[in-house]
Amino acid sequence: MASDRETLPPGTPVGAYRVIKQIAKGGFSLIYLATDEDSGEEVVIKEYMPNKIARRDHLLRVIPIKFDYTENFYYGKKLFFQEVKALALLRHPNIVRVLSFILAYDTGYLVMPNERGRNLATYLQERKGSLSTTSILEIFIPILDALALLHHHAMVHLDVKPGNIHLRHGQQPLLLDLGAVQPLNRERSRGGQVITAGFSPVEQYFQAGQLGPWTDVYAVGASIRNCMDGRTPIPAPERQKLDLLVPAQQALKGRYPPFLLAAADWAMQMDPAQRPQDAAALLAMLAKHADDSPRSRFSELPSSQQFN
Ligand SMILES: Nc1ncnc2c1ncn2[C@@H]1O[C@H](COP(=O)(O)OP(=O)(O)O)[C@@H](O)[C@H]1O
Ligand SMILES: [Mg+2]
Repeated sequence: MASDRETLPPGTPVGAYRVIKQIAKGGFSLIYLATDEDSGEEVVIKEYMPNKIARRDHLLRVIPIKFDYTENFYYGKKLFFQEVKALALLRHPNIVRVLSFILAYDTGYLVMPNERGRNLATYLQERKGSLSTTSILEIFIPILDALALLHHHAMVHLDVKPGNIHLRHGQQPLLLDLGAVQPLNRERSRGGQVITAGFSPVEQYFQAGQLGPWTDVYAVGASIRNCMDGRTPIPAPERQKLDLLVPAQQALKGRYPPFLLAAADWAMQMDPAQRPQDAAALLAMLAKHADDSPRSRFSELPSSQQFN
């Protein structure tokens, strides 16, 4: 609950910005709408404030609730800074843009443009899935393109799910929340991994699991499946015991074109080696069939060209 974490009160200054109100919360952060005091422009600020392990003191500083949580708290903060670094490195029309990063109140603040629109997860709840093939392609072709850029830079997102996809009004979708991003080929960090039941593949649950671009591919497959049937897919560890997930090609036969059902099933293979090995591979398969859909190549546009 946000109230447990005590949000910054309206009017609080954060660098050159001023908080208007809290608009969302996640496991590791609180999200505020704010204004740029100089330009008057509205922005969205993401504050590192992990649930259950941190609180705000009387000077508004974010501190661990108790000593035992100190290590976790700082580890999470490191991940938050990792998100900022990853975002600063990646320029892509479908990856949320960073305006500024501020250190204040003993925590970090990521400042982004206020992207008007809605969250895909909320939209799916309202609609109970059943998105059209066109909508699914319009969402996931750009998202896969963004992930292809990440994978190209030897990074993995590790928390792809409808809740981290933002549908901008009349524009292409945005991939949010690079808070779990990890560079590949590095000793796997201890603890603190983000797991979302239904969207995280089995290798994310075990220390020995080999994470890679295929890990994001599974999450995309699960998100596509969620857009079709409106249900959170069966969590991977349950599937591993006894796989009760009926393949999309059977369960949704006739409701979607065979290539889309096949793509979802391919991406959701339990064995990482059986999936498309990276976002580009899944993108190529979808794009081949999506002749009339907007298609993009991952591209590192100068920031001035983005969002225009
Ligand atoms: N730049 C933005 N513009 C508008 N809304 C945003 C923006 N960034 C985040 N949000 C909203 O806040 C929610 C949480 O953001 P996210 O980055 O996923 O944080 P968390 O790590 O806490 O999950 C998103 O689902 C979205 O609805
Ligand atoms: Mg999120």
